[in-house]
Amino acid sequence: MACTYPAMPSAPTHSGASHALVVRRGELGSAGHHLPAKRRPETRERRGSMQTHQKSQIQRAAFWTVGITVAHFAINTHSPALHWLHILLAGLFLIPILICAVAFELKGGLLASAVASAVYLSHLLWSWGDSPMANLDQYAWIGVYPVVGAITGHLVQSSNMRKRQRDEVIARSQRTEMINGITGLLTAVGVRDEATIQHSRRVAELSTAIAEELGVEANEVSQLHLAALVHDIGKAGVPDAILFKHGSLDDEQMAAMREHVDIAVGMLGEIPGTEAIARLVSQHHESPDGSGYPRGLTASDIDPTAAVLRVADVFAALTEARPYHEAMTESEALQAMESLRGTKLDEKAFAALHRVLANTTSADESCSGTEPAEGTS
Ligand SMILES: [Fe+2]
Repeated sequence: MACTYPAMPSAPTHSGASHALVVRRGELGSAGHHLPAKRRPETRERRGSMQTHQKSQIQRAAFWTVGITVAHFAINTHSPALHWLHILLAGLFLIPILICAVAFELKGGLLASAVASAVYLSHLLWSWGDSPMANLDQYAWIGVYPVVGAITGHLVQSSNMRKRQRDEVIARSQRTEMINGITGLLTAVGVRDEATIQHSRRVAELSTAIAEELGVEANEVSQLHLAALVHDIGKAGVPDAILFKHGSLDDEQMAAMREHVDIAVGMLGEIPGTEAIARLVSQHHESPDGSGYPRGLTASDIDPTAAVLRVADVFAALTEARPYHEAMTESEALQAMESLRGTKLDEKAFAALHRVLANTTSADESCSGTEPAEGTS
């Protein structure tokens, strides 16, 4: 079975690039198509830490509410000497209201004030039910709590919204700066070696499809897409005699070629905001069994998204003509990769590649009716 993958640009040949370049403006911007324009998706860590913080605030608010309530009922309400304490305790109910308003904004302020009002009203009815006018001023708290909860919650909500908007503007500007930096690098690399850029586009499209098949979070898919586009920019630092050599490389040349990984990481290091991308790039030649380079990481230390990049890179490389090998068909490439499964290539990513290609083939066949497309079995 030879299947086509229409989302990927056609495989480049090494016929000598027509250097009509190369990096289309906006191409990298579209790498963020997984990121909603209005709001960057929260990471799992950030969501987890927010939930932990909110949980601890609920516990604090509950602690204060229970403490104040118990104290209120424990203190003798008929002793004039202690009456000031009742007034103080009534005011202290504002503490859990403020805690909830800060943690949960308007919703938290209103909910907490409703609870405080209900608790305090119970106390008034319990202790002063037979003489409601005796302490009429205390009934005022039933109105004070919701007002304080609503105002505080509203102020916190407005402040948080302004902060979020400011953060989004900063993040967008940093992302634009990063995209511009990456575009510059790719343009410079593409002038000399257009085949690498074409290869990188194919790897980016395929990596994205595999990651989505694996259910990777949208922001990680976006990072992977960018990492795939730049994974080989370090080849800019490899001499022509090695990069464009016809035939196999000797040990020394191979070592020089392998330096492209660290060179790429160094180049990305000059662009703020590319740390996560650089990490993926640094691992795109690492293998689960530790036989990869440059650091010989093993499966547990390799980022699962970098493992996806590796699988896509190998598949794309095998199906492209190189100075040292002919282009394989997709089925030949899959067959060749089968023996690397679990040792040189991540099993899950490889299985997902199979599914992506199978789905694409099915889609092709359904689009072209019952006749199989040319070049497919
Ligand atoms: Fe590479």
